[in-house]
Amino acid sequence: MERDEIKSPVFLRAEGLGYQVDGQVLLSDINFEISAGERIAIFGPSGAGKSTLIRLLNRLDEPVSGTAYLDGQDYREIPSRVLRRRLGMVMQQPNLFPGSVAENIRFGPTTQGENLDDARLKALLSGVDLAGFADRDVAKLSGGEAQRVNLARTLANKPEVLLLDEPTSSLDQAARRDVEETILSVLDSGEVTCILVSHDRAQVLRLADRVLMLEGGKLIADGPVEEVLDAQSMD
Ligand SMILES: Nc1ncnc2c1ncn2[C@@H]1O[C@H](COP(=O)(O)OP(=O)(O)OP(=O)(O)O)[C@@H](O)[C@H]1O
Ligand SMILES: [Mg+2]
Repeated sequence: MERDEIKSPVFLRAEGLGYQVDGQVLLSDINFEISAGERIAIFGPSGAGKSTLIRLLNRLDEPVSGTAYLDGQDYREIPSRVLRRRLGMVMQQPNLFPGSVAENIRFGPTTQGENLDDARLKALLSGVDLAGFADRDVAKLSGGEAQRVNLARTLANKPEVLLLDEPTSSLDQAARRDVEETILSVLDSGEVTCILVSHDRAQVLRLADRVLMLEGGKLIADGPVEEVLDAQSMD
């Protein structure tokens, strides 16, 4: 059977995912199912394993047990470069390379032999509220602007899942809200599924529908945002 003929309503499924470094268990037996278009927050204390889970999903690290399925396909069968485009990651720090905004956004598609045309570049920039920024030098951007360029750079690869690891935690309050607004409008305007790591309860309430709560490398709750956060605050 052709893989791409299987269209499961579950788009991303983790099955017993586990990760260890030097005998230290960082994640164990993580199981969840995510449907296309869902907005998931991964929440939990510092050191809970949130970034580790995101890194496993993107195969920046290899699971030592279990696996994940992307649209029914074992993700270990998907070449990492392809997987990393399908699950586009935005980290805490923008890490733009020196040059213009346009050069940064065009880079990803170029590595695939695709040339981002001007209309698409313009659409990406206006999608992150940076219309007219194409020729700006990234060294002169504010933190919030740089993070929105970073988001556009990931979106240029047309990811099916956005993995956002604390995308606003290095920003001040005003820039944080701007980036949050941008993320919301990106999610509202597209088909993309989102997994957001955040420490910020208010942000989780604004951006996510469902929470996966991690603690000590274990998934301790999975449910609607209010339910999981309320239960947690009563502890
Ligand atoms: N490569 C590594 N080698 C050893 N320990 C690691 C490694 N990467 C992460 N850890 C440890 O694994 C645990 C989980 O780390 P992780 O970065 O996933 O936490 P987190 O939930 O993202 O925390 P934070 O909210 O502070 O970002 C931590 O105790 C961390 O010190
Ligand atoms: Mg982290």
